[in-house]
Amino acid sequence: MHIIHIVGARPNFMKAAPVMRAINDMKGIEQTLIHTGQHYDANMSDIFFSQLGMKRPDINLGTGSGSHAFQTGQIMIKLEKIFSELKPDMVFVYGDVNSTLSASLVCAKQHIKLAHVEAGLRSFDRTMPEEINRIVTDSLADVLFTPSQDGNENLIREGVSPGKIHMVGNVMIDTLIRLLPEAKLLWPQESGKYQIQRKGYVMVTLHRPSNVDDPDMLGRIIYALNNISRKIPVLFPVHPRTRKRIAGIPGIRISDTIKLIEPIGYIEFLVLQSEASSVITDSGGIQEETTFLGVPCLTVRENTERPVTVTSGTNILIGRDMEKLESEVDNIITGNVRKGSIPQLWDGFSGKRIAETICLSLNNFLE
Ligand code: UD1
Repeated sequence: MHIIHIVGARPNFMKAAPVMRAINDMKGIEQTLIHTGQHYDANMSDIFFSQLGMKRPDINLGTGSGSHAFQTGQIMIKLEKIFSELKPDMVFVYGDVNSTLSASLVCAKQHIKLAHVEAGLRSFDRTMPEEINRIVTDSLADVLFTPSQDGNENLIREGVSPGKIHMVGNVMIDTLIRLLPEAKLLWPQESGKYQIQRKGYVMVTLHRPSNVDDPDMLGRIIYALNNISRKIPVLFPVHPRTRKRIAGIPGIRISDTIKLIEPIGYIEFLVLQSEASSVITDSGGIQEETTFLGVPCLTVRENTERPVTVTSGTNILIGRDMEKLESEVDNIITGNVRKGSIPQLWDGFSGKRIAETICLSLNNFLE
């Protein structure tokens, strides 16, 4: 059996790594890793392969940036040719990025079995490009691996046959559990580099178009971060999209108490979020990682496709209300912290469950 894994953007790498590792342990399955090149900067891509102990991509499509149609189309054109030549038995796609969508469409047209890891998540907000990618991918997938019960419920409601759905837990947490001890060793170095104390700083990541492509919203967020940074140091690794947008706002003033840094590696980010007082973010994966770590997470979005992080975890949805953001940070500084609990099956064995499911069902899939 030959499986092709498709990765393209930063959040894909930590999801594919544990799945490939677990399938490798099963023996007898050939695996090919294709990187679409959606993310291409060394600190958005290369660094993750070495830190995650992942094999280098067998093929890199070198697609790069562009509009949604351009990026999705370019990846489809290149994958169509490669799939025709390699004739995989199954393709694995991860999460909800444009690369995920492109590969799913090509598989459907070429009648190649498609497995979606992190299936069933829904924000119910179709203005998010990722929501469109999730809906289309799930409607085309033959095997759907969900991270939590809400994923199963969403899929069933959309008419997906229950036999295709497998709740396996969160593969991203597999990677976190594996690498947390190594990350913790970096604390002396990282705390010295940024002059920060345990639980004495706020981490920030922002890259959603709804926040950073809207100059008014981005300005209001920066204004709030300036205020917050006067009370507690703010460490902000800036995504390339966000850096461009900040540079495009004339006269924007960023306080010296906000440390703006380049995007950092997985292990560095892991230790820095694990020791933070709170994390302000619009990322999906960070909502999950903070829930696992028990670190308060303030999500600058009006909805989340990961509701379990709000109902069981440490996540609070801030929406677009920047006064609420400031007051929630104040709450946390004064020790008013919600403990939260870790969702079912977020235990480090999700990749293994996926590999076992694939092996058990090999004959069915290949029929
Ligand atoms: C993409 C995903 C998003 C995911 C995010 C993680 C889609 C629709 N969006 O958003 O779901 O949360 O990745 O980071 O797939 N750029 C660089 N260097 C890079 C990559 C991007 O400079 O290595 C810049 C380019 O100017 C590019 C912009 O960032 O135009 C946006 O990149 P893109 O891949 O289109 O989307 P992201 O915002 O990164």
